Amino acid sequence: MNRKRPHTFFIETYGCQMNFSDSEIVASILTEDGFVPATDLFSADIVLLNTCSIREHAEDRIRKRLHYFRSLRKKKPDLMIGLLGCMAERTKLALLEEEQLLDLIAGPDSYRHLPGLLEQAVSGHRAIDTMLSSDETYADINPVRLDSNGVSAFISIMRGCENFCSYCVVPYARGQERSRDAASILKEAKDLFIQGYREITLLGQNVNSYARDDTNSVIRFPGLLEQAARLDPRLRVRFATSHPRDISIELLETIARYPNICKSIHLPVQSGSNPVLDKMNRKYTREEYLEKIRAIRNIIGNCAISTDIITGFCDETEEDHLQTLDLMREAAFDYAFTFKYSERPQTLAAEKYKDNVPPDTKERRLNEIISLQHKLSMQSNQKDLGQVFEVLVEGVSRRSDKHLFGRNSQNKVLVFPDMGQKAGDYAEVRAIRATSATLIGESV
Ligand code: 5AD
Ligand code: SF4
Repeated sequence: MNRKRPHTFFIETYGCQMNFSDSEIVASILTEDGFVPATDLFSADIVLLNTCSIREHAEDRIRKRLHYFRSLRKKKPDLMIGLLGCMAERTKLALLEEEQLLDLIAGPDSYRHLPGLLEQAVSGHRAIDTMLSSDETYADINPVRLDSNGVSAFISIMRGCENFCSYCVVPYARGQERSRDAASILKEAKDLFIQGYREITLLGQNVNSYARDDTNSVIRFPGLLEQAARLDPRLRVRFATSHPRDISIELLETIARYPNICKSIHLPVQSGSNPVLDKMNRKYTREEYLEKIRAIRNIIGNCAISTDIITGFCDETEEDHLQTLDLMREAAFDYAFTFKYSERPQTLAAEKYKDNVPPDTKERRLNEIISLQHKLSMQSNQKDLGQVFEVLVEGVSRRSDKHLFGRNSQNKVLVFPDMGQKAGDYAEVRAIRATSATLIGESV
């Protein structure tokens, strides 16, 4: 049975920044093929869910959402529904069978085939492509910026991950690590600047292992970052994520040298205990991690450091947990993303270890970590009081239309009185009050 030919599409994105960046690639591929972005879900002929598998909870949310689509389909029988991203890759046919709802499934390396897959779906066949690739970087695709503030944008510089941290599904869902050619990255950055963007974030699962040798000499991450910073001093450059093992002195010196490379490093530690780090296959010790923190603080003046922490990993003892709290204090993180361990099928940890920390212990340890981080963030913000920061204005504050908001180099949000600046302008702001999440400032 042939379906009505779709014309408009709507993408719902879940998960990490990489997924948001991928959705912009998908939008570009579909737009090139004549499809038109819909303003909302209800006016779309196709809805695509770009999904995340990082924790069970993320997948549960998407399954719930699919139940909602089941009821929506009753009201809009022609609505086509597609699943993209990590969960599409991870669950493949199983989900297709289970849900009996999806018209299309495409993994993270199959987005170029979306027009063909949609064609197949129109002709009444369920379309699925979850082949992973060793070289796809979508380098030539000019992303359509979705939900953009017109000031900051993501640029994907590499895909996949081969670190195989034992808890992590990413290497299975996103495949082999590969770096995108530098010229296409720099061109995308330059084009964004010309369009008025003032901040780019170079994205990859592990940007520190970026390497490309297609310009006669190998270009590595510090070199790429430097070239991006040289495009224009008014263009801020950020990056995420770094693996602690791979962060080098050369990189830290590059960050220190350029005022427009933001003084903010996201350095996921995951745990403060050596036996746990070893089981996680993180390939560094607590001491080595803290050594990197000292190097950051020595080489870069006023650099914010954020982290990711997983609590309740297999066999984690109370002593291990205390070691994590202790490391947090010693590193004095400015911000932390904190998670309860969630066992993922296929991973080394799922095969080798037992998810044996009871849920209420995980919960309690997580709360202790969150409350300590709350204090550390508050202390970090209090230290900023009286200091003047260069803030890149992003827009009008949500709380008051007489105030603007933006971020400083350290990635902290400042809210300050509107003195006529526009989004994309730089404002000099003195921090005068602090909560654990925001700095309140005055224009200087
Ligand atoms: N359970 C809980 N948290 C996880 N992360 C990755 N895999 C898992 C998992 N199985 C966290 C890590 C990573 C962040 C993106 O998500 O902290 O850095
Ligand atoms: Fe997962 Fe580790 Fe790769 Fe990060 S570095 S994506 S945690 S395997």
